Amino acid sequence: MKVAVLGAAGGIGQALALLLKTQLPSGSELSLYDIAPVTPGVAVDLSHIPTAVNIRGFSGEDATPALHGADIVLISAGVARKPGMDRADLFNVNAGIVRNLINQVAKACPDALIGIITNPVNTTVAIAAEALKKAGVYDKRKLFGVTTLDIIRSNTFVAELKGLRPQDVEVRVVGGHSGVTILPLLSQVKGVSFSEQEIADLTRRIQNAGTEVVEAKAGGGSATLSMGQAAARFGLSLVRAMQGEAGVVECAYVEGDGEYTRFFAQPLLLGKQGLEERQSIGTLSAFEQQALEHMQDVLRKDIELGEKFINQ
Ligand code: NAD
Ligand code: LMR
Repeated sequence: MKVAVLGAAGGIGQALALLLKTQLPSGSELSLYDIAPVTPGVAVDLSHIPTAVNIRGFSGEDATPALHGADIVLISAGVARKPGMDRADLFNVNAGIVRNLINQVAKACPDALIGIITNPVNTTVAIAAEALKKAGVYDKRKLFGVTTLDIIRSNTFVAELKGLRPQDVEVRVVGGHSGVTILPLLSQVKGVSFSEQEIADLTRRIQNAGTEVVEAKAGGGSATLSMGQAAARFGLSLVRAMQGEAGVVECAYVEGDGEYTRFFAQPLLLGKQGLEERQSIGTLSAFEQQALEHMQDVLRKDIELGEKFINQ
C-alpha cells in the first residue's frame, strides 16, 4: 500500500504524515511531496520513528516522483484562512494548485483513490473531477472531499454536552464543508436526545468550528492538528477497505446520482475500488430537512464555480 501526501510540509501535511508513519500497516510506503524545500527533511525526520513504514520526501515543481505507484493520494496543498476570510476566499489561489496537482495524479497514478482536503472543498472537488474527466481518467468511486473533521468535531461537542466518552459517539454529517452546507444529523445520534435549543446551538457551533479555530489562532492559520487526525482517520479507512475489510463506512463529499447536488457528503460504504455504495442519509427531523433544502443553492453554486474553472 502506497500513500502519497501532497502539501506534506504544511500544518496539516506534517501532522498527517506523522500519524500515517505511526499507523499505516507494516510494509506500507509513505510518500511526501510539497513545493517547500524542507519536505525531504520532514521525511528524514519521520524516518527515525521505528515503524515498518518506508518514507520518502520530494520537493520542487514536479510531484510525479512522489506519485508513481500510489494507491491513495491525500491533498492538503494550498493556502489556509486568516480571520475575516471565508473558505470561498481561498478559491483564487487554491483552484489552480488543485488543478495542477490533479493533472499530475492523472498522469502518474490514474487509478489512485484521491482525498481532497484543500479548501474550499465544495468547489475543489468539482475542479478535481472535471480535471480528471478532461484527462480521461475520472472514476467517481475514487474521488472524495474529506469532511471527516466535521464528524470528529461533532463527536467531541456532543460528548462534551452530554457527558459521554467521545469514542462512543458517532455523528453523521452530510452536505458539504462550509457554513450552512455542513449538516450534522443530530436527530440520528444513538442513545441521546436534545432540546430544540441544543440542536440549534450545536449545529451552529459545528458549522462555525473552523472559524472558531481560525479566530483562536489569530492569523496563524486554520485547523491543522485536528485536521491531521481527521485525514488520518479517513485515509486509514480507505486503506482498510482497499485491503478487503468489510463494513468500513465514512462520510465524505462525493459525486452522487442526482438525488441531491452533483457532489454531496453522505455515509459511504468503502471497498477495494473506493466508494462501494452511497448509504441513505436516513430519516431527517423537520429542522434537518429545512437545513437540507436551504443548503442546496449554496452547494450548487460552489460546484458550478469549480466546473466552470476547468471548462471555460
Ligand atoms: P499550510 O499553509 O500550513 O500548508 C499548506 C502547504 O501547501 C504548504 O506547505 C505549502 O508549501 C504547500 N503548497 C502550496 N502550494 C503547493 C503546490 N502547488 N504543490 C505542493 N504543495 C503546495 O496550510 P494547512 O493549514 O496545512 O491547510 C492546507 C489546506 O487545507 C487549506 O486550503 C485549508 O483551508 C485546508 N483545510 C481543509 C480542512 C478540511 O476539513 N477539509 C480542514 C483544515 C484545513
Ligand atoms: C476547518 O473546518 O477547520 C477547515 O475547513 C479550515 C477552515 O478554513 O475553516
